[in-house]
Amino acid sequence: MLKWIILALIISVLIGTLAVTIFVQREAPFRSDSLGAKGVKRALILYHPSRDAQFSDDLTLAIARGFEDAGLSVDRQTMTKDTPVKPRNYAIIAIVSNTFFWQPDWPTMRYLNRSDLNGVPTIGIMAGGGATERARQKLIKALVRSGADLRDTRSLWVSKPNDDMRLHENNRAVAGDIARSFAFNAARRVIAQGQVASQAGQPGSAISGVAIENGNTHASPLH
Ligand SMILES: Cc1cc2nc3c(=O)[nH]c(=O)nc-3n(C[C@H](O)[C@H](O)[C@H](O)COP(=O)(O)O)c2cc1C
Repeated sequence: MLKWIILALIISVLIGTLAVTIFVQREAPFRSDSLGAKGVKRALILYHPSRDAQFSDDLTLAIARGFEDAGLSVDRQTMTKDTPVKPRNYAIIAIVSNTFFWQPDWPTMRYLNRSDLNGVPTIGIMAGGGATERARQKLIKALVRSGADLRDTRSLWVSKPNDDMRLHENNRAVAGDIARSFAFNAARRVIAQGQVASQAGQPGSAISGVAIENGNTHASPLH
């Protein structure tokens, strides 16, 4: 009898884990938001939305503020089968992925395996509970394979403290602060390099223009 109870418990746990995994990894509908800044140069944030506590969504908003602080206007798109695979005319791209079982989420990997980021300066954020290092390494490899000019990556966590000097503060708020300054610093460096290049008579890397190739664009204010 005990044997059957244990077997039933194991099967229930396996089915439950499978159901949760499919739920959190399921591709979101394609959505493209214009996040309201006025800069001529543009940034793109690509992400897979969190299904539980919206951690990755919150990180995208913090990154958007960082880009906006650097003077860029910001587009944000979910990573789906309908997401443009060759984003063009962006000064910088940020990829935000969730960690599930020590791997970047499936929509991120599927998108990066199809995409051609063609030398666009790119930063990556690996969101997770606290065990993200293996996933971050996988994300780096996928970004390099996609042709991105990978500038930097970092992990941000829901549970593990994001900054040991700010343990008394809300950990998610700290993650948001870090994401914002991470994006700001990366964008500033890209813009400065573009200015140096154009002063030297070369084409700069920061470009203006419109890059949304399909889908709906919604205006959604950041503040
Ligand atoms: C099935 C499952 C597996 C997970 N595996 C990991 C993991 O290996 N490492 C980690 O740091 N976080 C892991 N997490 C936590 C998620 O990465 C984290 O919750 C994610 O960023 C989604 O944010 P949300 O909680 O706001 O939905 C896991 C969560 C779920 C549901």
